[in-house]
Amino acid sequence: MKHFYLTTAIDYANGQPHMGHAYEKVLADVIARHRRLCGQPVYFLTGLDEHGQKVQQTAEKEGIEPQQLCDRVAGDFQKLCHSLHISHDDYIRTTEKRHKIVVQSVLQKLFEQDEIYLADYQGLYSPRLEQFLQEKDKVDGHWPEEFGEVIEISEKNYFFRLRRYYPWLVHYIKTHPDFIFPHFRAKQVLEFLKDEPNDLCISRPKKRLAWGIPLPFDEDYVTYVWFDALLNYLSAVGYGEEALGHYWPVDIQIIGKDILLPAHTIYWPCMLKALELEMPRTLLAHGWWLVSGSKMSKSTGQVVQPLDYVRLCGADAFRYFVMREMVIGQDCDFSHERFMARYNGDLGNDFGNLVHRLLHMLRRYCGSAIPRGNFSDADDQALRQHWQEILPRISEAYQHFAIHSALELLWEMLRLLNRFTELRSPWSLAKSSRDEDRKKLEATLATLAEGLRLVVNALQPVMPETSRIVLNALGLTSEANLHWDQSLRWSQGLEGRSVGDPSVLFPRVEG
Ligand code: MSP
Repeated sequence: MKHFYLTTAIDYANGQPHMGHAYEKVLADVIARHRRLCGQPVYFLTGLDEHGQKVQQTAEKEGIEPQQLCDRVAGDFQKLCHSLHISHDDYIRTTEKRHKIVVQSVLQKLFEQDEIYLADYQGLYSPRLEQFLQEKDKVDGHWPEEFGEVIEISEKNYFFRLRRYYPWLVHYIKTHPDFIFPHFRAKQVLEFLKDEPNDLCISRPKKRLAWGIPLPFDEDYVTYVWFDALLNYLSAVGYGEEALGHYWPVDIQIIGKDILLPAHTIYWPCMLKALELEMPRTLLAHGWWLVSGSKMSKSTGQVVQPLDYVRLCGADAFRYFVMREMVIGQDCDFSHERFMARYNGDLGNDFGNLVHRLLHMLRRYCGSAIPRGNFSDADDQALRQHWQEILPRISEAYQHFAIHSALELLWEMLRLLNRFTELRSPWSLAKSSRDEDRKKLEATLATLAEGLRLVVNALQPVMPETSRIVLNALGLTSEANLHWDQSLRWSQGLEGRSVGDPSVLFPRVEG
């Protein structure tokens, strides 16, 4: 059976993990977990991009071997994944043998197919971006700062016949509206493609850059880092082997908007076309995390350390924050105050307090067992009805990567449950000796427990650890194995379950 194959960009091995990297992994993880709950076998790949000039230079500066640097950075990124509870199935590193073999076999194949040729290159080059430039890349007559120093070079290099695929590519993008998401990005790509691209230079002379995969047909050259890196998506799932059929075509490729053009929407589709492989089903381009309006990156020094927040508030709080704040495809400004407001407000007050209060009341009034919900009035009905109404919208939101709106709907439900608690005032009902009030008290707690069970089940992809804790506290240990649709139906399944002790899920953090 074909897996639902999901990838992230592979991170550059020349820096520390930051918020942007963490966000991308959490986003991919939420999609992967949701698909698994929907019963699909998932293959979730992430990894590290280890070759190239920048890695070589950073290692030189530190006086260590590039491989040593990569091993250390791989450790940092894997630690990040672990701390964020990322459920990836594979972590690929481009210095691994399995990857190098595939890169070399692809190069050899394309060379034999006459897709790659040797030519003289004379022109402008940015060592910082490892990219050849044209005069048209200037902005207002100047080289943009991110190019660094621009130099003139003249050398022989190998080129991939990208132009051959130009008309096909334009047509493909125009006729496959789901290929690039959000859709407005496809328009930008087509705009960019109004000018025919040049063939892609896929080699770097070894004398200038040693840290790369050698070309199989010319040992004096190594492979251009993008050509090498993009192939990770194939090398991880057995390119050239029968197994590839279990994964390919890749279903969703998650990347930041900065690497959509030209790498993922021009080089990558043309490479796949030349290899006679199917296109990715969807390239999902997210926006940037900004700090005071600027992109968070190592070069600008504007970096938020995700692990600081994980340490302070827990992985699930971090996951909730980034999923709740960022609207897919748009940029989002990070602020400490906003993080704390979401943590203490949404998580502490709306969610944590409800769980705590309910467990406490169940212990105090019902001997820690969930009672029978044999009473219902307009307020119970309204809650149920509200859930029936929002459920398809929640599923739809997950399906179409609008995680922030799934969370918005779930919090709407939590707030209704809180309001229902106030309205019914179980603590007053508990004081009464009337049978009717006792029934009402029990029904209130049963309804609250069921409402909470549903919210927490739908929250599993975003907050897996918290969901597990709450489900366990409600006496459910195997709920996580249920199918998405089945676990989200309003039912009486909780009756008679014995509940755990109330613990504080999100202790208040000042600051
Ligand atoms: N190595 C390349 C990708 C090769 S994929 C075959 C690369 N690495 S990166 O470390 O610079 O970026 C990794 C991912 O993090 C990219 O998708 C990038 O867009 C994303 N982010 C890096 N900074 C970001 C923000 N400030 N905000 C959100 N994501 C951004 O590019």
